[in-house]
Amino acid sequence: MKDLNGKVAVITGAGSGLGRELALCCAARGMNLVLGDVDEAGMAGTVRLAEEKRPDTASATLTVDVSRLEDVEALAALARSRFGGAHVLFNNAGVAVNGPVWENTPADWHWVMGVNVYGVSWGIRAFVPMMLEQGEGHVVNTASAAGWVNAPGSGVYNASKHAVVAISETLALDLRDVNANIGVSVLCPAFFPTAIVNSERNRPRDLADTAPETETKRLRQEQLRQAVEKGRISAAEIAETTLQAVENDRFYVFPHQKVKALVAARAQAVDRETEPFDTLSGR
Ligand SMILES: NC(=O)c1ccc[n+]([C@@H]2O[C@H](COP(=O)([O-])OP(=O)(O)OC[C@H]3O[C@@H](n4cnc5c(N)ncnc54)[C@H](O)[C@@H]3O)[C@@H](O)[C@H]2O)c1
Repeated sequence: MKDLNGKVAVITGAGSGLGRELALCCAARGMNLVLGDVDEAGMAGTVRLAEEKRPDTASATLTVDVSRLEDVEALAALARSRFGGAHVLFNNAGVAVNGPVWENTPADWHWVMGVNVYGVSWGIRAFVPMMLEQGEGHVVNTASAAGWVNAPGSGVYNASKHAVVAISETLALDLRDVNANIGVSVLCPAFFPTAIVNSERNRPRDLADTAPETETKRLRQEQLRQAVEKGRISAAEIAETTLQAVENDRFYVFPHQKVKALVAARAQAVDRETEPFDTLSGR
């Protein structure tokens, strides 16, 4: 979608990190904003920054839990009533847990799959029919390098992001089948500094972490914290790369080029058949 000026951007997880930066990039291009997040204060902060960047930015916010279809449908209804539709959907909200897979609880799985996988699916379900009606649109799903290569201690997160890559590729093929004028991009960044390591702040009480803290889990959490904090590309840069992918209708978005080399190295490990590829080896 070449000209984004005056178009409507819908962004989930817009109260922090990458979602906030996506909102600022969209505002800079003259887009109207529809923001959804569980964090109301975070979204208000994003709106303030967007108005600082471009004072005439029009925006609407809704407190939504993307794991609930009815919440995402309410976001779609808001986009329609406030701005008449939605042109670019960023399915971006995401959370992470860690620990060895045998220690992950049913609550870990329900929470992370609910936000990272169902959240993306509900976004597609609520917004793509509107885009088909409009005759144009673009869907950006935030996956991760973890959608391709697996770090130890992140089984639930890795599984959720592999699902996002699978859903995105299939969505693009399904849209091609019906000759829809709707683009798809799947965003696959490596670690970059945001509040993702503090995802527990958004964990619902009914899915609370009740598992005892083990040493393995603590070590992996620390390793991930450091990897995120040391990320060399900022959320702002990743957001800008993502907007350019929308403008140029690019499907795979790898802001960190090194991830492509990791994907190739994983393919070589598959060819050797002897042991699983470890994306953190050598760190
Ligand atoms: N930071 C990284 O290293 C990294 C790397 C690869 C991919 N990602 C992905 O980037 C996306 C954005 O994460 P971030 O790094 O900006 O983290 P972040 O924690 O700064 O932002 C995540 C946002 O999602 C919101 N959110 C959480 N649960 C929600 C729910 N149920 N419904 C609606 N909103 C909810 C949070 O309130 C927050 O505003 C995620 O999908 C994440 O998996 C992050």
